[in-house]
Formats: sequence, structure tokens, C-alpha cells
Amino acid sequence: MTDMTAAGPLDVPGLMSRLTLEEKAALLDGSDRWYTEPIERLGIPAVMTADGPHGLRKQSQEAALHDLRQSYPATCFPPAVSLASTWDRELVHRVGEALGDECRAEQVSILLGPGVNMKRSPLCGRNFEYYSEDPFLAGELASAFVLGVQSRGVGTSLKHFAANNQETRRRYVSAEIDERTLREIYLPAFERVVKTADPWTLMCSYNKVNGVYSAENRWLLTQVLRDEWGFRGLVMSDWDAVNIREHGVAAGLDLEMPTSFGVGARRIVDAVRAGTLAEADVDLSARRVLELVNRSLPALAPGQTFDADAHHGLARETATRCAVLLKNDAGLLPLSRSGGTVAVIGELARTPRYQGAGSSQVTPTRLDDALGALRTALAGARAVTFAPGYLVESEQPDAGLVAEAVAQASAADVVVLFLGLPPSYESEGYDRAHMDLPPAQVELLEAVAAANPELVVVLANGAAVSMPWRGAARALLEGWLLGQAGGSAVVDLLLGEANPSGKLAETLPLAYSNNPTIGSFPGEHGKVRYGEGLLIGYRWYDAHELDVAYPFGHGLSYTTFEYSDASVAVQDAGQQTCVEVSLTVTNTGTRAGREIVQVYVTDPECTVFRPEQELKGFATVNLEPGQSEQVSVTLDARAFSYWNVALGAWAIEGGEFGVRIGASSRDIRAVRTIELAGTLVEPLSPELPTAMWLDHPVAGPRIRELLAGDAKYDDYRMRRLRENPFDRVARMRGFPIPEADLARLAAEANEEVRVSGR
Ligand code: BGC
Repeated sequence: MTDMTAAGPLDVPGLMSRLTLEEKAALLDGSDRWYTEPIERLGIPAVMTADGPHGLRKQSQEAALHDLRQSYPATCFPPAVSLASTWDRELVHRVGEALGDECRAEQVSILLGPGVNMKRSPLCGRNFEYYSEDPFLAGELASAFVLGVQSRGVGTSLKHFAANNQETRRRYVSAEIDERTLREIYLPAFERVVKTADPWTLMCSYNKVNGVYSAENRWLLTQVLRDEWGFRGLVMSDWDAVNIREHGVAAGLDLEMPTSFGVGARRIVDAVRAGTLAEADVDLSARRVLELVNRSLPALAPGQTFDADAHHGLARETATRCAVLLKNDAGLLPLSRSGGTVAVIGELARTPRYQGAGSSQVTPTRLDDALGALRTALAGARAVTFAPGYLVESEQPDAGLVAEAVAQASAADVVVLFLGLPPSYESEGYDRAHMDLPPAQVELLEAVAAANPELVVVLANGAAVSMPWRGAARALLEGWLLGQAGGSAVVDLLLGEANPSGKLAETLPLAYSNNPTIGSFPGEHGKVRYGEGLLIGYRWYDAHELDVAYPFGHGLSYTTFEYSDASVAVQDAGQQTCVEVSLTVTNTGTRAGREIVQVYVTDPECTVFRPEQELKGFATVNLEPGQSEQVSVTLDARAFSYWNVALGAWAIEGGEFGVRIGASSRDIRAVRTIELAGTLVEPLSPELPTAMWLDHPVAGPRIRELLAGDAKYDDYRMRRLRENPFDRVARMRGFPIPEADLARLAAEANEEVRVSGR
């Protein structure tokens, strides 16, 4: 193998002056499915991208052409749906480091992920590749992931930018989203990663955003991403997402992937020659490709290795942190290591479902199954029996399998029933048809529960399932998809070798019909209208005061935690505002455990709609029995801001805010109230509603002063006039402020705001 790094970094300015237009255009096109274009004349090597991102999916050239499921073995870590339930930046960083090492061993320079699209609908077929319904949580964890991978000299590709929230018609649907919803829900996870982790690349989405393909959306790819957020890396297309190549270049789409077989490059050259595309735009993108090649060189060095056993161990440790203990009546779990028979029921115990299907599918280095792991762990101590109970892909119950399972359940002291979504239910490329488990599994559960109520259910699913049957289980462990070591990790949790600490990164609703996208998913006639606006996930269930099966942030432990001494220290400084939240967490149970503390912000009075509460901080703490520790969470100005459409900026509206500290979104343990001054204030003008004049921090007090003493315009009257344009109010006979003065009053107030920097 030749060492392509031997020549050292490329001289980018020098090369830019030597490249022909044709060569520059060629650089903006992939050379095959995974590689960038090399230019041998100038010693510019090709660099390799590869899927994942929860494991490396490097394919041979032949496999890439014929079978996307074929790839070289790599550690299959838990996918994003599961990583998100750890709420653990440090652990996710470590997973990222391990992935970076595996990429280097395979000379892959860019791992295509993480995906930070929001889980708008529980039915999105790719929800297992995404982190959360909450942008703050998704952004924080994806940032840790990117920092971890990139700390090893391997790049990432933050995807799919933006608003790829469904698979139905993903190649051309237009996501119709109002600006505030985009800024507050669909963009912030990308923004956070860009600003805190400097991803080497970003991948645009297939879909359109408000009518414009992401691949040609200058507002997204240049104005927001580069000019506002300061993105320094390269933008690549999703695979075959390019529509009109030269429009993409002008919009800021640097690299077309995979290869267009020269079509894209030719269009670029033709457009430059025809004067419809500026050569300067081509130069910008070519330069970014060269800079990416330079960053990628370390990964091209041959002879790098990784420790597969250590990575399997990390996959197992991670998986124990991902599972969420939803329910544990009368402490049925953990199971004792001695005693009578344990009946393991369910094919998924023997044939694990541990990742989703599509471009993220990894060939694992090995695979643990829960049945085998439990038999090994309890060998000689407890009898373990097994019945498959159902065929994984079967909808209808098999009477023989059910009867066998019931017989074994009746004869056992405790039953562990493995249920989950069949692989065909969820995949990249299509959305789920419904939120339910197959009827065969639900019927089996009912029959088994009737035979033996000492029932533990372990779930394997990449997205939320409805659980009308949950009353039949005494204990319920949501395993999501746990990667290649998930089988042994589940056993670690069942036996108490590890203490569950995962918490839900998405709401589990009572029924699909309660979810926010009813009526507007997956859209029609090429458009999907995000009619629920800001209210996705818990924001919706909270706003509508809907009961849920398990709320966002919920997760139990084998120990208990008490929160005390909650306090907030406020440094109110406009855009530099900083609120320190601190509290003491005590492990009040008898086992060591890990708690995830969540901080939600509320804005009870605001002139725009604000969700009931929004996650703005979280922290994790490990505690021995009886141990206490102080936990701190810092909230910045953004935590209190909303996107002010009129200003085109983030703004804090001055006044009272609530800081809620909780163990879940619906288990709030302490509330503190703080006051903050406003930041940006909308400019006044005479025709704006009277309310805006009265609420304005500078003009409001002056207007009230001018009205004081005139009983006709007391508070009661002015309240009724709030919605009237102020210039019309000023025209009313006898109104104490002449209309002619309004322009001056507005100018003075606006100037004062400008000078004070609010
Ligand atoms: C997916 C991307 C993936 C790419 C390459 C696309 O279909 O949307 O997430 O990275 O293929 O396989």
C-alpha cells in the first residue's frame, strides 16, 4: 500500500493557481460511490467517505455496486436513537473516538454522520438514526459525537440539512415550515454542532425546504450556515440529491456525491463559460475540497489498527447506558442470580434486532444475543428455558408457538419476554405504517401474562411504539436498538450488574392519534405542512395537557435519588446572560447509580407564544448509595430567547422566567423564578399596534406618563385599544399625544435602544 501522506500537506493556494477550470469542476464531483476525485497531475489524492455512523460501513467496490448490505466488519455501536437515551456527552465522545480509530484503520477520512433531524413523527422510518424530538438534546449529543470522531483526525458529515423528517417522498417533498419553527426546532441541533464542534463537512438533505431543494438553497447553505453560524467546512450533497448542479454551486453546495459520471462537472464548466455561474463560486468550492483533502491526509496513512475486543467492551458499556427502565413494579428487576426457573420467551432474545436498515447498516465484528448471555451468566445457578413464541416477521400468531411459550411461562418463576419491531417495519426509504407491535406479539404477551404475571418485557425497536398492553408487564425495559453487544448489556441490566440510567429522548404517547402531526404527515401533493409549528414532541403533549404512556426524560433506576438545595444565580447581561443552576443530588437507595438531571425553562408571560417548557440544560452524576453531590448546569442567553421574526434575531423578552429542575419533563422537583431584562427590542413605528408601544421598554413608560391624568385613557381603556394601530389611536379626538409626534417618539425610543445595545 502506498503512503499518500508521505508528500505532506497540499499547497492549497499554489494548487488553486495551477488547476484548470475543468479540473476545479472535476474536484466538485465524486469519483465513484465513496471517493472524491483525485487529480494525479497535481498529486491531489482521493479521500474516502463511508457510512455509519454508529459503526463504519466501508464497502468493497463490488459490494458498493451490487449489495448495499455488504461491508467489512466493524463494531456496531448503539445507533443514535439509543445513544440519545444516555444523555451522556462524555460517553458519546468516547464512542466517537472509537469510531474515529476504526475509520483510520480502514483509511476512511470522513464518517457520514451524525444525523440530527428532529423526530417530528413517530412514524419516520429513519427515526433510529436520529437523536431526539428535542433540538437541545440532539445538538449537545451530536456535538460530543463529532468532537469524539474528529479528535482522531477523521471528519464527520452532519446530516441531513435540513428538515428531512420523513422518508415518504423524501427526494422531492417540500417541508413547509414557518421561520420561527425552523429556527427554534429544526435548525438548532445543526447550529449547535456547527458552532461547538466544527464538523469537517455537512450533508444537505434530499427534500425541499419551503419550495427550494436543500441542494440549491442559498439561504440555508450560505446565509444561515456560513454567514450566520460561521461554518468553515465543506457541504456535500446527499447521495444523488443534486438537481441542477450549477445552481447548487452558486448556493454553496461544494461537492456532488456520489459521482455524476462527469455530468455535473460539465454543467459547471458550461455555466461558467456561458456566464451564468461565477468562476469565483467554483474556486470557493474547489478550495474547500482541497482543504478537506488536507485535513483528511492523516487517515490515509497505512498500518493503523484498533482493538476490536476493547471496542466490543465499549459497545456493551454504552448499551447498558442506553436502555431505559420504563417500569419496575415492586422491584421485580433486577432478577436474583439464584432461585427457580427463568423462562426466556421471544425470538428476538435469540435473534437480536440491534440496528436499523438502510445506509447505516453495519456488519458487526461479533454479535451477542440475550438468550446466550443469560444462559452463560446463570449457568449452574438458575435454570433458563426458552420458547421463541413468534416468528419475527409474522403478523399472525402461531398457535403452536404460543402454546409452547405459555407452557414454559406457567412452569417458570419469572418470565422475560423479548418483543420488538420486525426489521421490515422500519428502514431508511419508507415510513412506518403504524406505531404498533405486530399483533402476533401482542397476543403472545397477553397469553403469557395470563399464565404468569411475574413478567418482564424487553423491547427492541428503533422508534416509539404504542403500548396499550403495558399494564400486563410488571417490568418494562425499553432497549431501543442496542448494537452488537446489546444482548449481553441487557443481561447485565436484568441481573443488576449494571444499573439502568437511560432516560427517554422522545415521548412515548398513549396512542398514535395523540401525536402532533396527525393530519399533516406525510403531506400531500409534494408538500408537507408543519402545521403544529413549535409543538413537536413533549411541547405538544404539554400544551394540550395530554397524558402520555411515558414522558420525555423519563427513566427509572434500581436506586432512588433525592434533589435538594436548588438555587439559581443570575448574571443578567443581555446576550452574555448566564444563569447558574445548582442543586444537590443524593442517592437514597442501596445501589450505586447514575442520575440525569434536566433543566427546563418557562416563559410564562410573553407577547409571542412560548411552549410550556423547553429543555435547556442537563447533567449526569454517578453516586454510591448514600452519597450526595452538587450538580451544576449553566444556561446562556439562548436558553431564554425566542426567534423574533420581525428582528430576524434571537431575543429575550424581559420579565419573569421559570427554571424547572426535574428528573423528567413530568417529574419536576424544584422550580425557581428569575427576572431578566430584555435583549433585542423591535423597532417602533407609528402604525404598529398600541400594545407594542405600551410594552416597549423605553417608549412604554413615556407614553404612560403622557397619558397620566387623562381619565379617558386610563389603563382599562388602553387595554381595549391595545390591538389598534397606534397612529389610529392618536387620531382619536382629544387623545393626549398628537399623531404628528409619533414619528419623533419612535425615533427617540429606537435610538435609545440602539445605544443601550438591547
Ligand atoms: C442517505 C445518507 C447516506 C448516503 C450514502 C443516502 O441515501 O440519505 O444518509 O449517508 O445515502 O449512503
